[in-house]
Amino acid sequence: KKKAQIPSPLPAVVTDVSPGFAPAKVNLALHVTGQRADGYHLLDTLVAFASVGDHLTAEPAGAFSLRVSGPEGAEVPEDDSNLVLRAARLCRGGPRKFHLEKHLPTASGIGGGSSDAAAAVRLMQGDYDTDNMLALGADIPMCLNPVTARVQGIGEDITPLPTFPEMHAVLVNPRVAVSTPPVFKALANKNNPPLSALPGKPEEFLSWLMDQRNDLQAPAEVLFPEITQTLNALQATGPQLARMSGSGATCFAIYDSQDQAKAAATDLQQAHPAWWVKPCVLGSAQTRDHVIGDI
Ligand code: C5P
Repeated sequence: KKKAQIPSPLPAVVTDVSPGFAPAKVNLALHVTGQRADGYHLLDTLVAFASVGDHLTAEPAGAFSLRVSGPEGAEVPEDDSNLVLRAARLCRGGPRKFHLEKHLPTASGIGGGSSDAAAAVRLMQGDYDTDNMLALGADIPMCLNPVTARVQGIGEDITPLPTFPEMHAVLVNPRVAVSTPPVFKALANKNNPPLSALPGKPEEFLSWLMDQRNDLQAPAEVLFPEITQTLNALQATGPQLARMSGSGATCFAIYDSQDQAKAAATDLQQAHPAWWVKPCVLGSAQTRDHVIGDI
């Protein structure tokens, strides 16, 4: 295990700051601590948001509509099955014409659909009910205010962590779509220990993170060997940490510097042209300007 270090320096402006920016959500750690009577699993997770994401715009219109474009937009539905329209309709505002520019792969463990839905809520600026959003997607409430946070319950108990440091990272998806329920089903033990006590000092966060885990990683690797291949490829680039996000298949790695993250991303993309590979910054700065709602 390497010595933990806080990466530096960070760029002054890391990304888009508009409310329509829907950043990738990364589970830096995800512990499954139990299961509710209704089947939903209880989590204790540390989430951070990335400088890469989708872009949503909205303008008032006579009826709700959605157009999808962008490098990852081909398979994304434009009808009412899309969480953007479903979340917007729950906001009790007037109808909007939405345009979603999709950059995040779908069904990939980085909350693309939930983050899009949360961006729709921000753009609607209307009333919404947190329970309704939770029912629509357990990840939507944490995406409404996309700052680094500890999230418990099934996603309703959110504690922002303003002192958590920003980190240079690479996200990699091996182009396998993962449906979440089978991964939870394949999890052998559903009563795992929670996150260990959070450190007080930012310089201790990375070594703390190394001692946590993603409980969904082992079952996901059994179901999708491409995830093991991805983690091995990330480990080979010499990061501080490599781990899977959510129920997969996207994995992330954390590096000491932006240069190292960029070099790793270039090498990985060259070796695996079909994979989705993105260097990015994980942290709060890019989105903390538009905190909304009651969470
Ligand atoms: O809410 P979301 O769409 O992310 O959940 C998809 C499915 O994943 C749920 O219907 C449930 O089967 C499973 N899930 C779970 N426990 C969670 C979140 C999701 O069992 N905390």
